[in-house]
Amino acid sequence: MNRMSVLVLGIMACFLTSWVGLAVTPYYQLGQLLPDTDDATGEQAPPGFSGRAEQGRAVYAANGCVSCHTQQVRFEGVPATGGPDIEREWGERSTVARDYLRDTAAYVGSQRVGPDLANIGSRKSPDSYKYTTAWHYQHLYQPQVVTPGSAMPPMRFLFEKRKIAGQRSHEAVKVEGEDAKCLHSDEEIVPTEQARQLVAYLQSLKRSSYPLPEVPTAPAATE
Ligand code: HEC
Repeated sequence: MNRMSVLVLGIMACFLTSWVGLAVTPYYQLGQLLPDTDDATGEQAPPGFSGRAEQGRAVYAANGCVSCHTQQVRFEGVPATGGPDIEREWGERSTVARDYLRDTAAYVGSQRVGPDLANIGSRKSPDSYKYTTAWHYQHLYQPQVVTPGSAMPPMRFLFEKRKIAGQRSHEAVKVEGEDAKCLHSDEEIVPTEQARQLVAYLQSLKRSSYPLPEVPTAPAATE
């Protein structure tokens, strides 16, 4: 065998190994996954997305939310809790591969500039306004006013300013602080259809709200 054929064979072997490792093996491990069906109720887990939430997923992708937010609750085997993600109340359990079965592309993310959003749709706060639809609109419009010091960029282009026609819209954003001074008394800020879709998507993210048999559980705490 001359040196050229050794080189060509070596290059082909590199491609073949990575194809087996990155495509074939994951396919055999995960490619056959199906939703988990509850025998008693016939309900499937994970549930599908509603039409508007499905459209909101595209808005989430288009605006780079995934560059700062993850959608994965990690399991680190810490006794009693499972790990810091669960202690931070980002989810009641860790996420597993099947949680992303309904996603055409999974926005799992890798950087956590902001909090994990895997369960933002079921997140609770003692403040009853927080995490309501109105709160999400205001937070997207003016994150620094809602959370002072926030590093999240305002998503103003998802809203429009318009003259109040008769009555104020029930969706009008509660604009506060300096931004409120730029609004005339006869003007309001309302969400565009894209903002509605995005918030519907965020509110549908409840990846811990159903059980799955393969979810790892934390070992009991030992004294
Ligand atoms: C440059 C990084 C960055 C980008 C891009 C970004 N965010 Fe954020 N986000 C943050 C930070 C930091 C916080 C925490 C402070 C706050 O609440 O504003 C946050 C908080 C949030 C929260 C509240 C989470 C909670 O638990 O209170 C939501 C919801 C959210 N972001 C949604 C989005 C959406 C939707 C997009 C895309 C349209 C997006 N973010 C883009 C950085 C970012």
